[in-house]
Amino acid sequence: MTAVSEARGGLGACCASMADLIEVLMEEHLHVLMVLNAVERVRGAGPGQPPTHLDVLEAAVEFLRVQVDGAHHGKEEAGLFAAMEAAGLPPSATPVGCMLHQHVRGRELTESMARAIDGARRGDADAQEALRLSAGEYVRVLAPHIQMEDYVVYPLARRAISADALARLGERLVDPAELAAFADAARAIDAAASRAP
Ligand SMILES: [Fe+2]
Ligand SMILES: [Fe+2]
Repeated sequence: MTAVSEARGGLGACCASMADLIEVLMEEHLHVLMVLNAVERVRGAGPGQPPTHLDVLEAAVEFLRVQVDGAHHGKEEAGLFAAMEAAGLPPSATPVGCMLHQHVRGRELTESMARAIDGARRGDADAQEALRLSAGEYVRVLAPHIQMEDYVVYPLARRAISADALARLGERLVDPAELAAFADAARAIDAAASRAP
């Protein structure tokens, strides 16, 4: 458990229906950042340098595809951003439009990484470099994306959507077991990236 989640009482360990959707999304951001940091450590130090931990990258690609591109961005798109639009904040009038473009780019990069994994395992230098570059771009897109959401988009949403409505969205969209699995997967990837190759 991170220091922040511990201070909050650990959303994954308690009843998520008591947490509003923005609190859950911010908790997930902490774990996404943990995985992005792990990816950055193992993707290869520079041009022509192969990834140091292919198993970690493979697990990270699965995490990014299922937990981030799918579950997390799905909750934002179908839940929070839709509620913002219903409250009079359409994507074109806020940074949400940019956030949606970045979700699309993230999904493209995840697929690029997934396509390169097998070749990288066979020692194909082109596949290793493609994997290193796609992983690097994913980190460069998602890390500032998370900052923008935490400090601009979510505060905007909190002003536009009532606390009750955010709590109901959390209740409808958040499965406590999935939230715990999200955190566990991120911690496992971080730990594996810290082990010697
Ligand atoms: Fe997002
Ligand atoms: Fe997000």
